[in-house]
Parts: sequence; structure tokens; C-alpha cells
Amino acid sequence: MRISDPKLLTSLAELGVELRPVAKLSELTSLGIGGTTDLLRITKHESIPDLLQLLDANHIPHKFLGGGSNLLVNDGELPWVILQLAPPEPGVVLEGNLAHVDAAADLGRTVTFCAKHDLGGMEGLIGVPGTVGGALRMNAGAYGMQIGSYVREVKLYRAAIRQIETLRGHQISFEYRHTSFAADDMMLAVILELPSKPYNEILKGIRICNEKRRSSQPLGQKSAGCIFKNPPGASAGRMIDELGLKGLTVGDARVSDRHANFFVNTGRASAKDMLALIADVRERVQKAYGMALENEVVVWNG
Ligand code: EPU
Repeated sequence: MRISDPKLLTSLAELGVELRPVAKLSELTSLGIGGTTDLLRITKHESIPDLLQLLDANHIPHKFLGGGSNLLVNDGELPWVILQLAPPEPGVVLEGNLAHVDAAADLGRTVTFCAKHDLGGMEGLIGVPGTVGGALRMNAGAYGMQIGSYVREVKLYRAAIRQIETLRGHQISFEYRHTSFAADDMMLAVILELPSKPYNEILKGIRICNEKRRSSQPLGQKSAGCIFKNPPGASAGRMIDELGLKGLTVGDARVSDRHANFFVNTGRASAKDMLALIADVRERVQKAYGMALENEVVVWNG
């Protein structure tokens, strides 16, 4: 979708919104898949309510993009524009055990920054790509921890009431790869309350998680992490592996040879290829195990 109305372009500039025309989602997602559309970069949180009102008034649908690391986007010209927060400087401000983090801050860098100031707890998330906002929305977790456990407060744009709001941690429910945020809520900032730990000890934990991840996941390849959630009491990766589906391909979309719940883009996979592979694997698991696998990856194919 292209924004070309000169009046609208002026209003966007007045709101401090930067237009990046014809952005390629294949370059903005870790899977390397996705078509093109205009990207609007937001430099001031306070401008968001006015921005969304402006887009609505001009009948321009939109989607919020975080770090693009858990996302499968359709091919071709996309029927909505993308909104993305400009990365802040600095992304993290510490106050005792509290870390005030902007949603656009890089997750890995945030974990390392906090570690260097003797704040731990998030070691498991060290190799997870993406932004803190994305991790928060999905309640990202690994190696026995999840980010939701450390959330004290979240600042978000609530689309339903068209306002910026602050929620306390106990007002939000954090479950396995799921939160009570609405699909159109936009994460803006979070306050994490992290346990004090000496840097050396945190570093040890980080090294262990890094090693585990390196040995079991296809880190150098284009992927969106795990494609399916683990059903209660079962492992999606193990089931797919047991069915001998590692290496199964549709075009350049392939079930990883290293971890069967990672589907990788080995070249120029399209969203159509990846979706066909997901549907095929889901059907085979359903037939063999009687279990309906639910997507972990977020799909924008509307
Ligand atoms: N397994 C296989 N074959 C495979 C993959 C896994 O047999 O191809 C077996 C493993 O040997 C192990 C079990 O399945 O016994 C579980 O595997 P793993 O430890 O790799 O964990 P997972 O359940 O597949 C989850 C998260 C990952 C997270 C790791 C580490 C989900 C869907 N996945 O994977 O998160 O990094 O644990 O904590 O919850 C993600 O969310 O995108 C993600 C990658």
C-alpha cells in the first residue's frame, strides 16, 4: 500500500512520523519472507493516538511491526502499511533493580546491558532475536524462564480506547507464549524488576544457554524460531522429528535438519511455500498423533 496524498504526507511529517516508501518485509523479518508496503517510523510515543486517528480517517489499514523475528508475512504488494517504533537512545535506563526499557530496544542487548550492571534473571533469552516489545507481547521464554515473570509495569497504546495507558504487572496475564494484550495493542515501554546477581554468575548462565541453543537450533539460517507451540505435555519438535520430516521442503521452505520445529528459508522461499509446508506438517502430526499444532509464529496473510 502506498501513501501519496500530499496533505497526509504533511500531517505525518508534523507528527514526527518518518515515511519509508516501499519497504521490503523480506528485509525486515528474520525469515526473509514478505512483500512490500510503506513503513511509518514513529519517533514520539505521544504522537501515536493522532497518527492512528489520521490513518483511520484516510482509510489506511496498518499493522505494528516489532523486530520481525517471529513473523511470517505474505508475498506481493501488502494491503496495509507498517508502523514501527524508531529505536530509542538509550533503550534502557536503570534505577536500582528496575530496568526502564523502550519496546523498540533490542532484546539481546538489553539482557547484556542489565547483566553488566549485575541484574540477572533473563539469561535464557540471550539468543532470542527481536525487540523487547515483541518478547513482551508473546511472553517469550526459554530454558525455564519467561519475560512476563519480571514485568512490573507496561506502557502501551490501547487501540480499543485509542489511548496510551500504563498497566501494572498483576493486571496482565502471562501464559505460555500468550498474554492478555489485545492483538491491536502496541507495546511502548516496560519496567522490568530484575534480581541482583554478580555479572560473572550471569555470564556463566548466558554461556550455558548460548551453548545449548547453538547445539540444538539452526542459528545461522533464516527462520522465525519455533513454528508451532508445544502442546501441553508434548514436544512439537520431537513429534515432527519422529515422523522423519526433517529436510521436508516446499520450494525453498524447509524443515530444519537441526531442529524439526524450526522451518528455514534456504533461498527465496515465498510465504506461499512456507504456509504450504506448515499446513502439510500440521496435517501429518494430526494424523499420526491426533494433536492439532497451534502456530507459534505470527502470520500476516490478510
Ligand atoms: N527434539 C527432537 N528433535 C528435534 C527437536 C527437539 O527430538 O528436532 C526433542 C529434544 O531432544 C528434546 C525435546 O524435543 O527432548 C524438546 O526440544 P528443545 O529442548 O529443543 O525444546 P523445544 O520444546 O523444542 C522450546 C521453545 C524454544 C526454546 C527452547 C529452549 C517452544 C515452541 N519452543 O523448544 O523457543 O528456545 O524450548 O528453552 O516453546 C521459540 O519460541 O521460537 C523457541 C525456539
